[in-house]
This record gives sequence, C-alpha cells and structure tokens, in this order.
Amino acid sequence: MTTNPQSKYTKRDILTSPYQSNSCKILLFGSGELGREIIIQAQRLGMKTVAVDRYENAPAQQVAHKSHTIDMLDGDAMRHLVELEKPDAIVCEIEAIDLNMLMELEKEGWPVRPNAKAVWITMNRERSRDMIAKQAGVKTSKYVYVDTEDPAAFKNAVEKIGCPCISKAIMSSSGHGSYSIHSKDDIEPARLAAIKGARGSGTRAIIEEYIDFDTEVTELAVRHLDENGKIVTSFPRPIGHYQLDGDYHASWQSPDASEYLPWKPEDIGTKFKPDEDLAKKAEKKIYDAAGKITGALGGLGVFGVELFVRARDGKVEVLGNECSPRPHDTGMVTFMSHMIGMNEGALHLRAITGLPIPTRINEDGYRVIDPLMPASTHVIKAGCGGWDPEFRGIWNAGNTPGTNIYLFGKPNIPYDPKNPKDVHRRLGITLAMGKDALDAKTKAEAAAHKIEMRTRQFKKWIAQDDTLDARKKHVLR
Ligand SMILES: Nc1ncnc2c1ncn2[C@@H]1O[C@H](COP(=O)(O)OP(=O)(O)OP(=O)(O)O)[C@@H](O)[C@H]1O
Ligand SMILES: [Mg+2]
Repeated sequence: MTTNPQSKYTKRDILTSPYQSNSCKILLFGSGELGREIIIQAQRLGMKTVAVDRYENAPAQQVAHKSHTIDMLDGDAMRHLVELEKPDAIVCEIEAIDLNMLMELEKEGWPVRPNAKAVWITMNRERSRDMIAKQAGVKTSKYVYVDTEDPAAFKNAVEKIGCPCISKAIMSSSGHGSYSIHSKDDIEPARLAAIKGARGSGTRAIIEEYIDFDTEVTELAVRHLDENGKIVTSFPRPIGHYQLDGDYHASWQSPDASEYLPWKPEDIGTKFKPDEDLAKKAEKKIYDAAGKITGALGGLGVFGVELFVRARDGKVEVLGNECSPRPHDTGMVTFMSHMIGMNEGALHLRAITGLPIPTRINEDGYRVIDPLMPASTHVIKAGCGGWDPEFRGIWNAGNTPGTNIYLFGKPNIPYDPKNPKDVHRRLGITLAMGKDALDAKTKAEAAAHKIEMRTRQFKKWIAQDDTLDARKKHVLR
C-alpha cells in the first residue's frame, strides 16, 4: 500500500472496448440522473460500466452494461460487489452509503473517487461547515450547532445567531429538515422539522445566520491530473441558479458571466446593467473559494461548490455554503452549454480515470473551462406520487429550436397516501440554448411549464402551473 496519495493517481493513455479483460471499469454507488450521464460518457470512451442502487431500474442502471440492486448502507454487500467487479474507479453518487466500509475499501487500495474522506465530510453539515470555515478558511454565515432534543438549548442557539436565521438537520439534503426562522414562533416548528427531516438517527442541527445574497452559484471545480501527472484544479465558469422550497429549480451559464453575475436572478434583463468589472471580481473570488474548499477535500473529480454572492458598493463578497464531492444537479446545464464530452459527467469521468481535461488559462492565472454558448435548465417536477409516470405536451414543449427535454426514466415517485401531492421528486429537465442567459432561461422555463405529468394511481394530468407559487422567481409570470 502506498502512503503518498498523489502516487495512486496516474494518467491514462490507453483505452479499450468494454468487453475485454483490460477495459477501464467504472462502478457507481448511487445511480441517479447525474450518474446516468457519467455512464453515458464512459460508454462513449469504450469503458465498462456497472451501476448500483437500492431500487431496480434506477436511471443509471438503465444505461449501464451491468447493474446490481443492494442496500448501500450494508457494507458487506458493498464489499461483495467491489471484490466481484474489481473496478478501476468507484464513484459515490449518493450520501446514504456505509462510510466505514468505503474507508476500509479505500485503505485496502480500492480506487474510491474523489476519496472516502471527502464523502464522509460532505455528507454531514457539521463536518462540512468546519471544513469550509476552518480548514479551507472560506468565509461563511455565522453558525452554531445544537442538539434538537433540547428545546431550551435550541432556543438559545437561535437567539445567539438572531432572526432571521435557518436551521438545518446535520444529516439531510434537498431542503428536508430545514426551516427558515423569522420570529420566536418559528423556533419550535424549526426544531421539530429538524428532527423529522434528519437522515438516520442524528439529533443535531446547525443554526445559520440568514444571508441576504444577491445570487447563488455552483462552481463545478474539477481536480484532475495535468500533463505532468500533477493534481491541478480547473474551473468551469460559474453556474447561476435559484432554489424553490430548498430544492434546485433552474440553472444557467454563459460564456459572458457578466450577464448574470453577481445579480439577483429576478433582476436579470430588467433592473441591472452588466458590469464586467464587478463580474470579473466575483468570478475570481468564486474560483478562489472553490479552489480552497476542494483543496481541503482532496482527491480527483468534479465538486459542486455552492456559494452565496453579494455585491455592495462595488465590492463583492463570496461565502461558502456546502460542497458535493460529485457532479451537481444545477450543473446539468453543462449538458447543453459545454462541448460534447466535456459536460459535468464527462469532466468527473475524465478526472477520476486520469484522462486529459484541456483548459484555458485566464488573465488571473486560473485554469478555466469555457461553455460554448449560453444555456439554461428548468426542472420537470412530479406533481403527484405513484408508479409509471407519463408525460404529455412533448410536441408543445419540444418543438422550439434550441430546446431539449431530458427525462430521467424514474419508474416510481414514492408518496405518502395521506398527502399524495406533497412530493419533491425531479423527473427530468428542459434544457435550452439562447442568445444570452436570460433568453435561454426563458425558453427552458416556457418548455418545462408546457409539460404535464400523471401516474398510474393519479390519472388527472398535472402541470407545474397547477402547484402553488409555480411562477415564483420565474421570468415568465
Ligand atoms: N444561510 C443561508 N442564508 C440564506 N439562504 C440560505 C442559507 N442556507 C441555505 N440557504 C438557501 O437554501 C438552499 C438550500 O440550502 P442547503 O444547500 O444548505 O441545503 P440542502 O438541503 O443540502 O440542499 P441540497 O442538498 O439540495 O443542495 C440554498 O441553496 C439557499 O438558497
Ligand atoms: Mg445545497
């Protein structure tokens, strides 16, 4: 076993066809839509692909050469598959995974990417926040940790940070277990939400100062090998996005970031005039923060670094929020904005398997990856739960030049029978290119809102406009 982590990472100069003994084999733990893109990209390069998930026919399983269905919290099952498949790279696409086993496998020399520690840190908000604020030294909102089973301590913590603030269960994602606290009356509901929304048995929460940011961005920093075999960090241009109910709703990217940086999404194209100088300052700070955060995590691959950006009196401030050690949902815009073979799935694949990632050195010395054109995504969300979703309006939505529909092929939308419309599952996205980010955003949004869905159990067609606040933060009201 080697003690130098750098030496594990070697450049790959030979590729083969998938069905031969020396093919490069990728094993995915977690087979969602982001994993599906990694698999598609791997197959374009003749690699062998194996997709694992906890349910049959998960999106990436549908396109992989081979699939397995196991509970990934069962370490023995994980070990069985790794020893059986002998992969050249193990991709961790989900957080609900047996971390101890992942660490053990890595210690034995199995190629966990980006690395087991990065997965361990980022799956937990306390470790993640400490890493960003203390280890990486990137500014964040003020925060404290608290035990959700102690109401008095929870109230004290909120008072310490002050209102408005946000509470989040330490182990949670996609807005589950999070609550915006505006007044004293919100404290107890916030504590109960943190208990209810926690993944696993954790009883801790983080209380964070509310940041009145102008925009939030995802920086898809990618750690990869350069021509000398040395790890370097490259930066796709920042991705703008907004969230509704704690979940990503639309994202955009353009070769000219001053079209949207650092402004509020709802003001793009109306209230503000592009300021190239300010946008450049923002971009530099974004790369700087993302470089520090991914440097603290280490390993190879794409990281979705979530950052808050605000501009005041000609100065820009960038604050760290969280980071995923894998491609990011908002990064699906690169399926359209980037060159074929260079989208976020492809960048992750290239990085973890030691393939080249060509970049441009910008005027500040950062290695950047430019999009080809302005593009945007908009989610296609489930309006109800149930099996066998169907989508209607494909001609209406998809017959516009520059517009594309991606459906993830999820077979089922789990739901609570008492509340079948309270579902938060993303079933697809629309993608659009445009003359600028706003134009792309408008097209993607228009298309997504023309698509209706239904399931085997709920036969009435539902459009996004049938849900409350459907046009919040949208361009088209
Ligand atoms: N301190 C804060 N101030 C202002 N807004 C915040 C703050 N923390 C979170 N938000 C908003 O809530 C969203 C979700 O928060 P966060 O990313 O921390 O949680 P999440 O549930 O892990 O989301 P996901 O896993 O889907 O990325 C952020 O993208 C941002 O829009
Ligand atoms: Mg987030």
